[in-house]
Amino acid sequence: MPNTDKKIIIAIDGFSSCGKSTFAKAIAARLGYIFIDTGAMYRAVTLYAAEHGAIRSGMVDEEKVVELLDQISIDFRFNPSRGASDIYVDGTLVEGKIRTIEISNCVSAVSSIAEVRSKLVAMQQAMGRSKGVVMDGRDIGTVVFPDAELKIFMTADPKVRAERRYQELQAKGDKVSFDEVYDNVVKRDRADMSRAISPLRQADDAIVLDNSHMSVDEQMAWFMDRFAEALNK
Ligand code: DC
Repeated sequence: MPNTDKKIIIAIDGFSSCGKSTFAKAIAARLGYIFIDTGAMYRAVTLYAAEHGAIRSGMVDEEKVVELLDQISIDFRFNPSRGASDIYVDGTLVEGKIRTIEISNCVSAVSSIAEVRSKLVAMQQAMGRSKGVVMDGRDIGTVVFPDAELKIFMTADPKVRAERRYQELQAKGDKVSFDEVYDNVVKRDRADMSRAISPLRQADDAIVLDNSHMSVDEQMAWFMDRFAEALNK
C-alpha cells in the first residue's frame, strides 16, 4: 500500500497538445493534489502583451513585453464546476481567451524571453513549496523542480496531437483548418525544443508516456503504478 500521507511533487512535461493538462488535472483530482497548468501562465502573459501593444501583426516586441512584466498580476482561482483552477489576469478571468490560435502562434516567442521565464518560474516554485502539486509544462522536471519525486515526459504522434487540438477548437466554434493546427503543433515543437533558455527536453530521471494509442483510463492505471513506486522510493 502506498503511504498516502506523504505529499510529493509530480512534474509532467512534454510536447504541446499531448493531453498533459487533461492528464495532470485527472491525477490531481484523484490524489487531492493541486493542479497547475504552467502553459496557461505563458499564454496569459502573451494575451496581456497582445492587449497592451507588445504584439502587432503576430510580431512580438520583446523589450515591450519585458517592460510590461512588472505590471502583470496573474493568479489561479479554483472553479468547482471544472474541478480545476481558472487563470485570472489583473482580476479578469481569461481562460476562454488564452487558447485561441492567435495566442498559440505567439506564445513560443513570448515564452523564450528570459525575464518572462524567470518571473513565471519563481511563481511556480512558490506554488509548489508545500508539495502535493501536479504541475504540467515544458521545464518542470528540468528547471522548476529538478528534485520532483515523480517526473513524467509525455509524447504522442504529431498527427494525433493536431487532431485532438483541432477537435477541441472545432467544438469551441473556432474556424480553423486541420492543416493550420498541425502546422502550429509542429512549429511549436521545434520552437520549444530549440530555444536557448530552458528548452523542452526529457529530464534524465523522467519516465516516458507515449499516449498516442492509450485511453484516459489506461493512462490513469499506468500512472497509479508509477505513483506507488515513487511513494515507496
Ligand atoms: O502547454 P501549452 O501548449 O498551453 O503551453 C503554451 C506554450 O507555453 C508552449 O508553446 C511553450 C510554453 N511553455 C513553456 O515554455 N514552459 C512551460 N513550463 C509551459 C509552457
